[in-house]
Amino acid sequence: MTVRVGVIGTGIMGADHIATLHGQVTGATVTMVADLDLGRAWEEAAALPGARATDDGVALIGDPAVDAVVVASPDATHADLVVAAIAAGKPVLCEKPVAPTLPECLRVVRAEQEAVAAGGSPLVSVGFMRRFDPGYRELKAALADGACGTPLLLHCVSRGVSSAAGSTSESSVTGSAIHELDTVPWLLDAPIVEVGWHAPRSTGAVPGMQDPQLLLLRTADGALTTVEVFLNAGYGYDIRCEVVGDRGTVALTNPARVVADTERRRATGYPADWRPRFADAYRVELQAWVDAVASGRPSPLATAHDGLAASLAADAVIASMRSGGGRVVAVEPTALDPPAT
Ligand code: NAI
Repeated sequence: MTVRVGVIGTGIMGADHIATLHGQVTGATVTMVADLDLGRAWEEAAALPGARATDDGVALIGDPAVDAVVVASPDATHADLVVAAIAAGKPVLCEKPVAPTLPECLRVVRAEQEAVAAGGSPLVSVGFMRRFDPGYRELKAALADGACGTPLLLHCVSRGVSSAAGSTSESSVTGSAIHELDTVPWLLDAPIVEVGWHAPRSTGAVPGMQDPQLLLLRTADGALTTVEVFLNAGYGYDIRCEVVGDRGTVALTNPARVVADTERRRATGYPADWRPRFADAYRVELQAWVDAVASGRPSPLATAHDGLAASLAADAVIASMRSGGGRVVAVEPTALDPPAT
């Protein structure tokens, strides 16, 4: 079966997913794209054989030429579109985060729980693509093999060239640090139970926005994680992760494939954004999702429930931020009951 995919949002991420689905994923064809900017949607559709464009994401979800949906529109639009996909009974890959606020996340999880209780299958997958990145997968396997003994500390760094227009201190957490809020519990196989938010002096690159930020995360296994989020670091897109155990450390290496030796210096490059760094992760993630949709097997991607867990931690981080920083906030697990099966 060829999965007929509709993609909502044809900005940076949507266009990247369309290109990957079209050029590098087998078993899928993009039949429809939607963007509020209809011209932009048609630009993408015109490059895809037989594809159509619309400015209405809900119409795309209901279209008979669409079997499964990718939501790559802005964060605040996710919940309505994912709930519409659940109502239409169509598998949906929602870019992270499930939603920028906890109530919206809960709405998505409950909609899926109700659909499952009524006899349906879980339909929501979340685009936490680091779970498919070869480096992170190797790191997780090394931890499982006991390569550094018992993990005690993790140091995560998430730096970018410049923040997107409209970024805020809060969206740095719900839109960027959210990756670590999923990756750390996934790596350690232990939920985040406590967080704290800290701020050094700010770059001033974006007035009113705290950048960088430092998050402290405690997981249920007792490990402590530092997360530096620095969206206006300027020099490049740079993602790091080191795990310190009682017998050594394991860490991601800089994934650059080329090194230049000139003028008595050795240098490697940094990408300008996340697309080259995580190109393999997006491709493997999309292929895994398409394969699951085609076969009817459960999706191996992060679930709506995983998305809710990350958003619960983000909510606690923002509570610490809003109280001036430094305060330890417990992550309340009450909303984390496993989905009904
Ligand atoms: P963008 O701003 O480049 O593109 C968003 C597009 O959605 C625009 O073309 C806009 O016109 C369109 N749009 C806005 N509202 C819409 C609606 N209601 N229906 C249809 N189209 C609508 O944003 P970007 O960077 O592509 O981000 C899109 C999503 O992908 C966000 O949720 C973001 O958090 C996520 N993202 C995920 C990444 C990852 O590594 N997994 C990396 C970057 C973004």
